[in-house]
Amino acid sequence: MKKKLVVLSGAGVSAESGVATFRDAGGLWEGHNVMEVASPEGFRKNPELVLDFYNKRRRQLFEVSPNKAHTTIAGMEDTFDVTVITQNVDDLHERAGSTKVLHLHGELVKARCTQCETAVIDWKGDITIGTLHPKTGKQLRPHIVWFGEAVPAITQAMEIVKQADCLIVIGTSLQVYPAAGLVDYVKPDTPIYYIDPNPAQIPKLCNPLEVIAMKGSVGMEVVKKKMLLK
Ligand code: APR
Repeated sequence: MKKKLVVLSGAGVSAESGVATFRDAGGLWEGHNVMEVASPEGFRKNPELVLDFYNKRRRQLFEVSPNKAHTTIAGMEDTFDVTVITQNVDDLHERAGSTKVLHLHGELVKARCTQCETAVIDWKGDITIGTLHPKTGKQLRPHIVWFGEAVPAITQAMEIVKQADCLIVIGTSLQVYPAAGLVDYVKPDTPIYYIDPNPAQIPKLCNPLEVIAMKGSVGMEVVKKKMLLK
């Protein structure tokens, strides 16, 4: 029976693929007003602006590839039962070979009906005003969890973290809840590794915690070696 490894990832895991993070210098939130491009109110006020913001990010997906951090995580499936819980909306974990990926904040390569949120479809093209859901006939929107919207996958994520034999947190500033609160759901003796070149403070935990202040591609190799030695 393989040990259960849970990886909680954020934008930093995709940084070395050339995908901008949100809160680093030059990050996405530096150039945009979050509430204008990533909230239901913003979509109501200026749907073209919001759709264009996600069209640009979706188009970029076809120009970037998984980096060493993604592939090392995927490769850990040889030895561990790995579940990736990601805040990212890109598909780089999947393209690197990870087979169990739970997206907390949605997926750029999916879209959904504006009237029926369960009507989710694969979608790789642009979405503009007038791009309609093929079944419901209503306007499509990005399948993204915007600020102020519920995170439907969080309950499932909590249950997964509770079962973890080891938790790796990688490339997240741990500023956005409920995702950041997942670290509180590990069993008290579950070791936590936190990989981030500029690590945030992890709230006081009784768990064994090792902070690897490195980029994801290098830090994942360090953690993999440590875990394989155990
Ligand atoms: N390797 C690993 N981590 C990195 C790298 C790298 N090469 N480069 C930057 N980082 C780290 C930064 O130090 C930072 O801690 O990645 C983290 C990125 O933090 P954020 O930009 O805040 O991204 P994230 O934590 O994923 O944001 C969470 O906020 O805006 C919302 O929905 C959005 O899912 C996102 C959520």
